[in-house]
Amino acid sequence: MGSVGAKEIPELLNAEGRRIDGRRLDELRPISMKVGPLTRADGSAFVEWGENKVMAAVYGPREVHPRHLMQTSKAIIQCRYNMAAFSVDERKRPGQDRRSQEISKVITEAFESVVFTEEFPKTSIDIYIEVLQANAGTRCAGLVAASLALADAGIPMADLVASVAVGKVAGRIALDLKKEEDNFGEADMPLALVPQSGRLVLIQMEGHMNRDEIREALDLGTKGCREIYERMRQALRTRYEVPAGAPAPEAMA
Ligand code: CDP
Repeated sequence: MGSVGAKEIPELLNAEGRRIDGRRLDELRPISMKVGPLTRADGSAFVEWGENKVMAAVYGPREVHPRHLMQTSKAIIQCRYNMAAFSVDERKRPGQDRRSQEISKVITEAFESVVFTEEFPKTSIDIYIEVLQANAGTRCAGLVAASLALADAGIPMADLVASVAVGKVAGRIALDLKKEEDNFGEADMPLALVPQSGRLVLIQMEGHMNRDEIREALDLGTKGCREIYERMRQALRTRYEVPAGAPAPEAMA
């Protein structure tokens, strides 16, 4: 432990190259994904990722509200990222602050590049992301949950969007920062990738990295997104697989 003023700074990387929770630099936190937990939404997903717990619900394509946002040639995507008051250490004031608005905007833009919006003119596809517990990387967990919820709702898309944050901790590039690493590390860079095309649809950065570090971070983050992508595909297969011995669909008619 070091200290700056009254603040204790935890040791973020030990001599064996292990992080504060025992992970190596290129390791993800444990993650579990459940597709379709909400029966009233058209699509939904719940993601537990480290200590993050995030629910996403999708409605649509449906009528546009407010109506003046309607576009005659395509569907609009409306996303609301929200953090519950009890999701963080110090109670968060309920409602949309600037941070939530920014995250809602960048997530909307990420999905605009994969959803085939032109197939549903004059409609709205509404995505709700509720962060129930936060521990850094919630925009990435929200993107993953929303992506699964869109697939669960049957919204046509070019591909799923996978997401993870990468950053710099104790001078080294590290995958999937947790809260202490985000708070006391040197940089945090959330990414979202469309794996089949290799296109990045979200990239943000807070802190400092040089050109070589950014390159290394992009490589590690891209690999991390591909790992997440495989987990997402598995979660969708689990949701939709027909149990062995179940009657064929035509036999159920
Ligand atoms: O969650 P994400 O990393 O995408 O966004 P951030 O703005 O970098 O926030 C990092 C973390 O700070 C969050 O995941 C929360 O754990 C915490 N935070 C908080 O404690 N109170 C807030 N009002 C906002 C964020």
